Amino acid sequence: MTRENPLLTMIREVCALGRAELERPSTAEGDPDAGRALVQGLRAIGPDGEPSDISLSLALLAPRAAYFDQLVLHAIAAGVTQVVNLGAGYDDRALRLRHSGVRFFDLDLPGIVADKARRLQATGTDTGHLTLVAVDLHTDDVAEVLARAGHDAHWPTLFLAEHLALFLQPGDVASLLAGLFDRAAAGSTLAMTAEVHPADLDSDLVVSTVDDVMFGGAGPLHTIQSRDAWLALFAKTGWRVDNADDADEVAAVDHFHVTVADRPIQIQTQFLTATA
Ligand SMILES: C[S@@+](CC[C@H](N)C(=O)[O-])C[C@H]1O[C@@H](n2cnc3c(N)ncnc32)[C@H](O)[C@@H]1O
Repeated sequence: MTRENPLLTMIREVCALGRAELERPSTAEGDPDAGRALVQGLRAIGPDGEPSDISLSLALLAPRAAYFDQLVLHAIAAGVTQVVNLGAGYDDRALRLRHSGVRFFDLDLPGIVADKARRLQATGTDTGHLTLVAVDLHTDDVAEVLARAGHDAHWPTLFLAEHLALFLQPGDVASLLAGLFDRAAAGSTLAMTAEVHPADLDSDLVVSTVDDVMFGGAGPLHTIQSRDAWLALFAKTGWRVDNADDADEVAAVDHFHVTVADRPIQIQTQFLTATA
């Protein structure tokens, strides 16, 4: 088994520890304290061997976590009974937003899923409504994996991919969107974060520049595209993006400020929501 890029480990743990600092909603049946218990002992060790400064990530995490939490609450209120959280990491959404009749599927790499299962067992929290699913989105077919995990493609699903696509190869993002569409009954929603660069730049150049500047060329980031390229990908894989043409409606946070080809640019994390 190849060893995971330690920067991906660090980023996952920064996200998990950061989330545990945020005020987040919980349902009547949910467990508002599950998140803190779940991340016990994580340290988000950086390249210098020291724990990362979590506070730096909160401005990015807070609007993102809130956006996705609200989508889950709306879906539950609308009667959706399946929530699939892709690249869930140590997110505790399934526990905080527990609701009778709603099944959560948390997908991540096998090692993370195994560790999350151990941690959940140690917390003693009720996980009867949660299915943990091991998947490598580089090699596995997400539609097959979901079918095997008991996901029901006849009923609408809320699919979440929060801070995932950036870490997948562009071809794997395309396969993911197509595979999810295969599992999406009418009325399903896909919400994901998409890293967006200005339209007139080459995506490979942007990714390699961000990688060099931020991570000394050893980074785990792979997919940053123009908004038009993202919209085209959604359309090609069958998804209809809400408010695709309305620039005023773009929900986003600023992520990286870098200079690419002598030009300072802002890379945004946009929150895209699409229906099947
Ligand atoms: C930056 S973390 C985000 C975690 C969580 N969604 C959040 O927002 O806090 C990205 C997650 O995607 C997962 N991931 C990356 N590559 C993956 C792959 N090939 N297959 C499955 N999951 C993957 C990582 O293991 C990690 O937990």
